[in-house]
Amino acid sequence: MSEQLSVTIDGLTIPQLGFGTWQLEPADARRMVAEALRIGYRHIDTAWIYHNEAAVGDGIRDAIEAGHVAREDIWLTTKIWVAHFEHDALLRQAEESAASLGFTPDLLLLHWPKATPTFAETLGALNEAKDRGLTRAIGLSNFPSAEFRQAQSLSPARLITNQVEYHPYLSLKTLRATAAELGSSITAWSPLAQGQIADDPIIGEIARTHGKSNGQVTLRWLVQQGVVAIPRTQKPERAAENFDIWDFQLSDEEMARIHALARPDGRLGDWLDKDFRWDQE
Ligand SMILES: NC(=O)c1ccc[n+]([C@@H]2O[C@H](COP(=O)([O-])OP(=O)(O)OC[C@H]3O[C@@H](n4cnc5c(N)ncnc54)[C@H](OP(=O)(O)O)[C@@H]3O)[C@@H](O)[C@H]2O)c1
Repeated sequence: MSEQLSVTIDGLTIPQLGFGTWQLEPADARRMVAEALRIGYRHIDTAWIYHNEAAVGDGIRDAIEAGHVAREDIWLTTKIWVAHFEHDALLRQAEESAASLGFTPDLLLLHWPKATPTFAETLGALNEAKDRGLTRAIGLSNFPSAEFRQAQSLSPARLITNQVEYHPYLSLKTLRATAAELGSSITAWSPLAQGQIADDPIIGEIARTHGKSNGQVTLRWLVQQGVVAIPRTQKPERAAENFDIWDFQLSDEEMARIHALARPDGRLGDWLDKDFRWDQE
């Protein structure tokens, strides 16, 4: 097996394939996080609002105790929920998340943009969380380009990723360019379009050429763009399948054919506040 790919920003190395835990009940989160780390994943994604941070921490401890991985080899991300965006509440949640996980996270994200309190207050508190050692790095989730730029202009520390929905049915051209311009990165949530890619005939054709599955081709398409992807599954065999993407490459033409699948109605999870608007494409 070839080495897994990663992106490095300001000296911090983020493994490009992570394991997502949204909608995993605590018992499944613990079991699957431990299994993912055993398979070779080195990046775990959770959030306060998933109500599974403690179980994710238990899964990480299980894998460490079993000798599969060391803490310093894992990239661990969690997120500040929108109800905790005031200064004191944000710092309280940062402490609570670290306590629930039993580990200081590597990355703390603002889960969705919110007009009040001001970005200045929230970004100030997020930077303070970093300065107090409650996380190694900070970033955003679900911020359109204008708000991404505004947040970075208010943040002394670089916002090292913007975690957003991205898969073959969304273009994300503008936001990918914004992230590059800001020296940041894109992390793709719902990278498998919540399973929809499994039935795609074009992806299927490309997958057959490589002797791979539709899921593997989709994840390869993401990491080959320099994007971080965090697929989720509750099935150990699928976790292994999704991780097995390091031994093949898509051609420029295959990459372009998958990009061409983007469509205007491709978005699956639109919970953006009405104060904001997604980039046109
Ligand atoms: N920041 C945010 O606002 C935000 C929002 C949503 C998600 N996220 C993060 O992103 C992660 C991933 O997104 P997601 O969970 O929405 O969707 P996803 O990873 O695109 O899809 C998960 C679904 O696809 C199925 N699946 C997994 N591997 C597959 C494969 N190889 N072939 C076919 N189907 C497959 C899974 O079913 P089985 O379990 O049956 O395998 C599950 O139903 C989340 O877990 C979470 O960590 C973040």
